[in-house]
Amino acid sequence: MVKFLDLKGVNNRFRNEISDAMERVIDSGWYLLGKEVGAFESEYADYIGTNHCIGCANGLDALTLILKGWLEMGLLQPEDEVIVPANTYIASILSITENNLRPVLVEPDPHTLQIDPDNIRRTLTPRTKALMVVHLYGRCAWSEEIEKIASENGLLVIEDNAQAHGCVFKGKRTGSLGDAAAHSFYPGKNLGALGDGGAVTTDDETLARTVRELANYGSSRKYVFDYRGRNSRLDELQAAILRAKLPRLDADNGRRREIAREYCQGINSSIITLPQLPENEESNVWHVFPILSPQRDRLQAYLRDKGIQTLIHYPIPPHKQKCYPEFRNMSLPITEWIHDTELSLPISPVMEPEEILAVIEAVNSFPN
Ligand SMILES: Cc1ncc(COP(=O)(O)O)c(C=O)c1O
Repeated sequence: MVKFLDLKGVNNRFRNEISDAMERVIDSGWYLLGKEVGAFESEYADYIGTNHCIGCANGLDALTLILKGWLEMGLLQPEDEVIVPANTYIASILSITENNLRPVLVEPDPHTLQIDPDNIRRTLTPRTKALMVVHLYGRCAWSEEIEKIASENGLLVIEDNAQAHGCVFKGKRTGSLGDAAAHSFYPGKNLGALGDGGAVTTDDETLARTVRELANYGSSRKYVFDYRGRNSRLDELQAAILRAKLPRLDADNGRRREIAREYCQGINSSIITLPQLPENEESNVWHVFPILSPQRDRLQAYLRDKGIQTLIHYPIPPHKQKCYPEFRNMSLPITEWIHDTELSLPISPVMEPEEILAVIEAVNSFPN
């Protein structure tokens, strides 16, 4: 059987480092907001290439805290519009509505599956104040065009880098391109903890301080509360584990690129659209390997019978979810087409060569 993601195998490679890290934390007697979080924040900021990194509880909180920070700083006002790709994971949109801001759902480019700059231009209004760029599936969604739109229209840019740790755009890492970025360390991510975790990266000192306070009950000093904050902390154990895993991230992303290349060279079914290999291979860290097929459900069942696990990212688009009745009547044909046809093949740094071949053979043998 080829697992979609062998998490145990992924983490087994770090067994000694993780055990050492856990012992270090136990022995320290200090379990929150201590040396491990401080050290991880500085190592991750160096890795991403920003002046600041603030650990928090998860990726959704990281997104929410950035927007809340801008509201507290007076850079956003309630009901301001935030542009966001319509085909993103729900968390991107939840962070906007959680802050009483208005998500404006924008169709992606059908070739890259990333937010389409032409569609961004079409949806701009005087109330548009921010743009959320989601590097979906691990592929860089940034472009000079997006940068131009943001600067011409004075938009704040938030990157959702939950799926793209280590991705590079023209020598700079995603997570350092916009005004602030949110990262998730959910176990299945390219850099995953052994539980939940998240972080905000930014060069903006005021935002960094505000987010740090907001994530700690809104507290500037012990028992002094400047904001109505929340409790959203990365704990010492998860920070120590992430420190053990971070040095291997680039090598793991390299392995993902090799697998993606093998899939693209080996799969040759006429009813499958493969993702385009980017011109610059550093601009995709292949969190997900998304193929598109009009026969998606049949293909998934066929692969299951052949012992190959796949997932759909995602089966129901955000605008069709029960939690957003206000979007129900929107027509977003590209987004709906992606949700109807997308299938994610197994990809991870611990896949064996014969597993990769088994996936290719199984996909190619699908009768069409
Ligand atoms: C694109 C995207 N944004 C945000 C999140 C939220 O991250 P978390 O699960 O850590 O809250 C996720 C992942 O789950 C995601 O894939």
